[in-house]
Amino acid sequence: MIVLRNSVWNAQPNQLLKTSIVDKSVENLLALMTTTEKVGQLNLYNGTWDFTGPVPQDNSTQERADNIKKGLVGGMLNVLTVDAIREAQEMAVEESRLGIPMIFGYDVVHGYKTMMPIPLAQTASWDSDVAYETNRIAAIEAASSGLNWAFAPMIDVSRDGRWGRIMEGGGEDPYLTSVMAVAWIRGFQQDDLSDPLTMAACAKHFAAYGFAEAGRDYNTTDVSDQTLFNIVLPPFKAAVEAGVVSVMNGFNDLNGVPVTADGRLQRDILKGDWGFEGFVVSDFNSVGELVTHGFVKDEKAAARAAFMAGSDMEMDSRQYERHLNALVDEGAIDMAMLDDAVRRILKVKFELGLFEDPYRYCNKERATSNVLTADHLAAARDAARKTMVLLKNDNDLLPIAKDVASIAVIGQLAAHKDIPLGSWRAQAPANSAVSVLEGIREVATGEVTYTEGYRLVEEKRHFIHEVPFSEQNRNGFSDAIQIARQAEVVVMVIGEDCFQSGEGRSQVDTQLKGNQVELLAEIVKVNPNVIVVLMNGRPVVIPDVVNIVPAVLESWFGGSASGNAIADVLFGDYNPSGKLPVSFPYHTGQEPLYYNHKNGGRPVTNDFDAGKVFWSHYTDAPNEPLFPFGFGLSYSIFSYNDLTLSSHQLRSGEELKASVNVTNKSNMNGEEVVQLYIRDLYGSTTRPVKELKAFEKVMIRAGETRTITFKISTDDLAYYWPDGRYCAEEGDFHIFIGGNSRDVLQAEFELL
Ligand code: NOJ
Repeated sequence: MIVLRNSVWNAQPNQLLKTSIVDKSVENLLALMTTTEKVGQLNLYNGTWDFTGPVPQDNSTQERADNIKKGLVGGMLNVLTVDAIREAQEMAVEESRLGIPMIFGYDVVHGYKTMMPIPLAQTASWDSDVAYETNRIAAIEAASSGLNWAFAPMIDVSRDGRWGRIMEGGGEDPYLTSVMAVAWIRGFQQDDLSDPLTMAACAKHFAAYGFAEAGRDYNTTDVSDQTLFNIVLPPFKAAVEAGVVSVMNGFNDLNGVPVTADGRLQRDILKGDWGFEGFVVSDFNSVGELVTHGFVKDEKAAARAAFMAGSDMEMDSRQYERHLNALVDEGAIDMAMLDDAVRRILKVKFELGLFEDPYRYCNKERATSNVLTADHLAAARDAARKTMVLLKNDNDLLPIAKDVASIAVIGQLAAHKDIPLGSWRAQAPANSAVSVLEGIREVATGEVTYTEGYRLVEEKRHFIHEVPFSEQNRNGFSDAIQIARQAEVVVMVIGEDCFQSGEGRSQVDTQLKGNQVELLAEIVKVNPNVIVVLMNGRPVVIPDVVNIVPAVLESWFGGSASGNAIADVLFGDYNPSGKLPVSFPYHTGQEPLYYNHKNGGRPVTNDFDAGKVFWSHYTDAPNEPLFPFGFGLSYSIFSYNDLTLSSHQLRSGEELKASVNVTNKSNMNGEEVVQLYIRDLYGSTTRPVKELKAFEKVMIRAGETRTITFKISTDDLAYYWPDGRYCAEEGDFHIFIGGNSRDVLQAEFELL
């Protein structure tokens, strides 16, 4: 056994910030503060609009304003526009005794006004530059609009397509999510938080929120330490190592302890073992909800439990405001701990440059000149085309020639200018996306006809997150069939409404809603050249689509420039290079479905037949996914050959090289994501059948062969043991390399 780290699980590391790393000004300020003012820094008030949780019953604007003026509020969320932020900041800075500036947070999840592809889509690019660049731009726009703190990235690993928030993260794999997490954070924060075009990032939700039982948002999570440490926590550890300055906990009960009150997570692991130097913020009302969870008797106990567990700042439920003073007076909370929480928050405010100039983010000129610029829209287009995943392309139906005589474009989603913006669209103007129809019309030189065909949702929403599904009828079918019959090629856009996914948007059934697929089945009867473009925020159930059409392109919700980016791919101006960050099931009942599962004692192989009843399988659906994790085609054809290892034995401290030749057998240059997986064949605990350990996205020119070499060290083979140690175990390993998690070459080695 090669022990890389000793057990941290039961350690009692020092969780308080070392004062030596904090600017002296923080200490000087802290020395001047009363207990009430210190507690004030821990309060995060909601603005009075755009609620993302239950509307507080006591939202008296006057009372809140008075508290800000008394220096009793550390920050605000959902305050928008430079004017509103300046006004609020003036109250804190000009009128309070110590003039401590507030921090202003907002959910900048995939852009501010220029919408980038949703984070799940960004992850499908397997390109950290996409993640970096999209958040760099999001930060420019949001920070130019007065904000300085993004409640993103969400880096909750999720294996369940029913969970609506899967659209907001990096999918099912901890390694891929970690790579994206680091880039997302760097994109927001850059190297200098005080730059008025950057913002503080917030890694969320700590932890295991993505493991909600039955995929139902806010539901209980029950996750073993093995899964917690090896699957859930790695992206957060990577985020801390990348310098994220804040972390948000969550709504979920994890193994019997709501994470907002989980001291092992927040104090021992995050602040202790990982040495996190930023602050933790609770989620919207998650402190108050500790009572509802049945974890504490009343709200005062909730405030104490959350605080003691390491939640430094409290989002909105105002339990800290009501109770922390008394708890300190009673000696139930130690002043040193209160100081620590305040110190962490002030430290970030100093780093943001707010003490130097509290209005550094409030510049009206920048607020208009730095948003929705041509450069940002071009970047959104570039990002979107890199996120698309080609799922099927029989007989090279794609790319379409630009001068094809006639194209029939069908589907409500095809002409929609709002749905492609996705859920969590911050301040994107309504209907500001380029539709698929517009994108096609800009490029195609032949005739382009359009009809809606099916109607998934009504146009009018009463409130932004509503999904007003349409009454189903076939009124549009005949027109659609008619234009399809007359066209050379059909592009039919089907999928989901953008608010079918996102917070509070879980689904029990992830098939496509309404009668879109029924219409598709009619269309293919009159025209075999049907290309399906999918728009969706989760892995959807689409065997009935894939089985009847020759070409399927997954476009997710691509953001502001979505339609142009889709046209770039459809007409071959961009050769698709995306790969799925989640497994696509045949049936919702397979969820949670993920590639890095255990083997079990009774696995079935692909030659499963009816004779093998007492094996782990469904009697009415396959075990394997329709499309595996990592899958995605290109207009180029790549073949993998000659997987070779530099040695078949690896010793601790040494490296092993694994090389493979990848040939582009087509006449089109293309990019391929070469993926390396390992399998630890046996161990003190059972190990997954495959684990992604490395990948490289490479351009391979037509006809070219490139040798891709990966290095593997003991560190790549280590995992958290049941006793908390991080070790690699001697024994036999497999290495797999391929273009997805299923179709791989295999080699073996032994760790000595
Ligand atoms: C609740 C969500 O869970 C969280 O991710 C978000 O940042 C807050 N609301 C604020 O909107």
